[in-house]
Amino acid sequence: MDVAHLELEEQYKKYCVECRCALRTVSARLENLRDEMEYLSEKRSPFVSIDSRVKSFESAMKKCTKKGWNTDIDTIKSEMRDVAGIRITVPYKDDIYVVAKAVKRQPSMTVIEERDYAANPKPSGYRSLHLIVEMDLYFMETQKKIPVEIQIRTEAMDLWASLEHRLRYKNTDPSPEAVEKFAELAKELAAADEQAMELRDFRKAEEGDDDA
Ligand code: GTP
Ligand code: MG
Repeated sequence: MDVAHLELEEQYKKYCVECRCALRTVSARLENLRDEMEYLSEKRSPFVSIDSRVKSFESAMKKCTKKGWNTDIDTIKSEMRDVAGIRITVPYKDDIYVVAKAVKRQPSMTVIEERDYAANPKPSGYRSLHLIVEMDLYFMETQKKIPVEIQIRTEAMDLWASLEHRLRYKNTDPSPEAVEKFAELAKELAAADEQAMELRDFRKAEEGDDDA
């Protein structure tokens, strides 16, 4: 292992401390929203789960190679905007936009990029809404802006992404048949998401009848 690589790893670890601060702050905001929504809507909250992770040094190096970026800390800080990552799962597809709207209203947390793969799936079949936010952080003597990637998706979208991620790692070059199968599964799960919303609305209508 050469000295430059070890030095970069050290610099990356230091940056991860800042990223964890950003994750704690963003997660706390999201937990607060979840708590409020659960109270207001009698358990019908638009959140199922909120998870966070910091990208490992190994994955960061792999991503630099994949993207053809220089492996220095300044490039990583400016180009890699998913070192700090949060994943939110929601019960229904339209809840994605309820959560996204609430995120956009948050002060000192600026959305700098939005990619709606939930409405426009990737060719692979991947669906999810991605927001990159810049979180303002206050340290002892400095003030910093740290990017955080927030992925918002239904449980069905999450099931697909986890499965595809797991199998892709085992087989870096999937066969055309496997690619086709994944695209097919994504379509079926997208249909399941639509049905879930219909069932929810159906139940709402029934509950409405009960009240009458
Ligand atoms: P990455 O280098 O993969 O981060 O891609 P990117 O920086 O060009 O951004 P993109 O919006 O394509 O993807 C960001 C993240 O979304 C990825 O790191 C994955 O977590 C997730 N993602 C995107 N496409 C896929 C996919 O086809 N399958 C799975 N499982 N996850 C995906
Ligand atoms: Mg990524």
